[in-house]
Amino acid sequence: MLADDLKVLWLNAQERVAVADSQALEELRVSLLGKSGSVTMQLKSLGAMEPELRKAFGAELNRIKNLITEALEARRAVLDAAALEQKLTAERSDVSAPVRPEMAGAIHPISRTTEEIAAIFGAMGFEIKDGPDIETDWNNFGALNIPAHHPARAMMDTFYLNASFANRPAVLRTHTSPVQIRTMLEWARLRATLAQEPPPIRIIVPGRTFRADHDATHSPMFHQTEGLVIGRDITLGHLKGCLIDFLRAFFDNPALPVRFRASYFPFTEPSMEVDIGWNRKTGEIGKGGDWLEILGSGMVHPNVLANCGIDPREFQGFAFGVGIERITMLKHGIADLRLFYESDVRWLRHYGFTPLAPAMLHEGF
Ligand code: PHE
Repeated sequence: MLADDLKVLWLNAQERVAVADSQALEELRVSLLGKSGSVTMQLKSLGAMEPELRKAFGAELNRIKNLITEALEARRAVLDAAALEQKLTAERSDVSAPVRPEMAGAIHPISRTTEEIAAIFGAMGFEIKDGPDIETDWNNFGALNIPAHHPARAMMDTFYLNASFANRPAVLRTHTSPVQIRTMLEWARLRATLAQEPPPIRIIVPGRTFRADHDATHSPMFHQTEGLVIGRDITLGHLKGCLIDFLRAFFDNPALPVRFRASYFPFTEPSMEVDIGWNRKTGEIGKGGDWLEILGSGMVHPNVLANCGIDPREFQGFAFGVGIERITMLKHGIADLRLFYESDVRWLRHYGFTPLAPAMLHEGF
């Protein structure tokens, strides 16, 4: 009779285990194996039995309890798999849905040109330096052989600040040339403290510059890159070779006509303006028989070397300064300088560069 009870219990459980969801399965588990579930009640009744009977009945009860547990677990696995399957079906992505518009950033043409300049001069062994936007008027003018009432100061439309900087009148630097001074002073100091002579100076200085001037080709804030090479045997030939190589690499034209034209800067002697060949009518660079001024250069003036503690009888070198906006406008046919700074995303999308496009200029020239 008791054995039959157990059989019924098991048959009953087998019948009921095909529940539809996990909540029903949990209810079934509680009704069988829970604290007052039918299997548990049977287990509790074991205590009151004759030892012989208890042995046989107990073993059979345990066997059935295990069978029930397994059946519940098997059903649980089936229900879980079905739930997962349903979830995957519901979440399947619709590849035909229209893509949401995505805003990708672009590299600003000024940054791009700066990186190209760094790549070209980097390949020639130049190092990148920088300096502060706020300068002493000594670093910006005096040390560069531009005395107090020199017309070059007025020419540069300087922003004078109401502050002083290390006890000297402060200006917003009108060119990147003060970093020439900083670099040479540092080099001379280093030379005085070292047993060996430090390696020659070979730097470029990309950075912001400021002049009180505003129209289609001038902005009160603009960018330049300075170049400076100082050593024992640097000649005008080096200056010419270096700048010709740079311009031909930058404008991606190995036959670009380059002309050196005598000029004047207080901090170089001799001084030369550098022109490239172009067509004035079409704006095309490299052919056309017209000349376009592109940068200023020259051999560093002996007074400038002396102002930095470098003996001009022992050392000489060359310097140049190039306007980053100007060569960017020429290279990419950008007509109005003011648009560089308006942060108009439509303009940037048109003239900007994608971050994933390789910079071809690293690849030799
Ligand atoms: N500093 C000059 C300018 O801003 C450019 C220059 C730099 C010229 C170095 C000669 C040598 O116009």
